[in-house]
Amino acid sequence: MLHFDNLRLQFPAIQAALSGYSDAPMRKISRLCGAEFTLCEVFLDKFVVDVSRGNKSRFYLAVDESDHPTGAQLMGSEPEMFATAANRLIGFGFDLIDLNFACPVKKVLGRRRGGMLMTSPPTALEIIDRVRNSIPPNIPLAIKLRKGYDDSPQSEDQFWEILDGAFQRGIAAATVHGRTVKQRYDGASDWDFIARVKQHAGSRTILGSGDLFTAETIAQRIRESGVDGVALARGAIGNPWLFSQTRNALNGEPIPSPPTLAEQYEIILRHYNLSETLYGAHRSASDMRKFGVNYAKLHPEPLAVRNDFVRAKNRDDWMNVLKKWYRD
Ligand SMILES: Cc1cc2nc3c(=O)[nH]c(=O)nc-3n(C[C@H](O)[C@H](O)[C@H](O)COP(=O)(O)O)c2cc1C
Repeated sequence: MLHFDNLRLQFPAIQAALSGYSDAPMRKISRLCGAEFTLCEVFLDKFVVDVSRGNKSRFYLAVDESDHPTGAQLMGSEPEMFATAANRLIGFGFDLIDLNFACPVKKVLGRRRGGMLMTSPPTALEIIDRVRNSIPPNIPLAIKLRKGYDDSPQSEDQFWEILDGAFQRGIAAATVHGRTVKQRYDGASDWDFIARVKQHAGSRTILGSGDLFTAETIAQRIRESGVDGVALARGAIGNPWLFSQTRNALNGEPIPSPPTLAEQYEIILRHYNLSETLYGAHRSASDMRKFGVNYAKLHPEPLAVRNDFVRAKNRDDWMNVLKKWYRD
């Protein structure tokens, strides 16, 4: 069981926050394939505070009835702005607030947001304080960290200072990506470090992140590190079946074989339709490309399918590609 305070989940593999990907359609597809809890892509605090009730809020912030429980993630640098944005997100229907202290993108770091907050425990903890004290007590607050800003001992001290201070201030959980901010995505995620974090945290909720691409690896990581949960990220893009496979692996049951072409067709078509309903015909055809590229990896002819998805310009093109590669 995975606990975020009063939010109790039976299944420990959650859909990670994925900028540019974990929008409402992807979250619904993940849920359909077995995810119980999903996280939205990260929002800038200022965006949430400024957005009016137009298309932008409908596309990014609306949570429909079938999309619960789901969490929103916030990024920024100003404690007060975080608190205002967090309350707005709850008004939109999110069930949990997650704070991003992990993003390694250069522009983000330059504005002292995301991973840069790993270098400033007082600011990170003030943000946690402000948000925790301003959102309703029944809404769990979580944080996302990397193992440090870099590999220096000072950076590791800052990690522990933020982690311990955050739990003292009432967070429900911390997700730890086992790479440093400087590392970005180079090298492997350090699961030995994640195991140390869980040992240190005792009964408090820790989720691990990094290099979770197969159900066998996920079950092994949970078993060996002792974490309460894991966040499936790149491994779930274009492969939502990772959730159902992980369920079996964790229950000690045989892992289902990879989805048949008919099953892939069914899910890609549903994903496309969800995207079209939300964004409209024009935008969904291009927006779905990045998913198509990933879905193609499961096809026996990945390159040809990928190329066809990339060239598809409208719904008719998409339906033709699906028919050609997944139905004929
Ligand atoms: C395209 C992309 C977008 C991401 N966006 C976010 C984000 O918005 N918030 C976040 O906390 N992490 C984000 N991450 C990090 C992932 O949630 C995860 O921690 C990381 O990819 C490591 O897991 P993996 O190796 O299993 O992919 C992103 C990663 C990728 C590849």
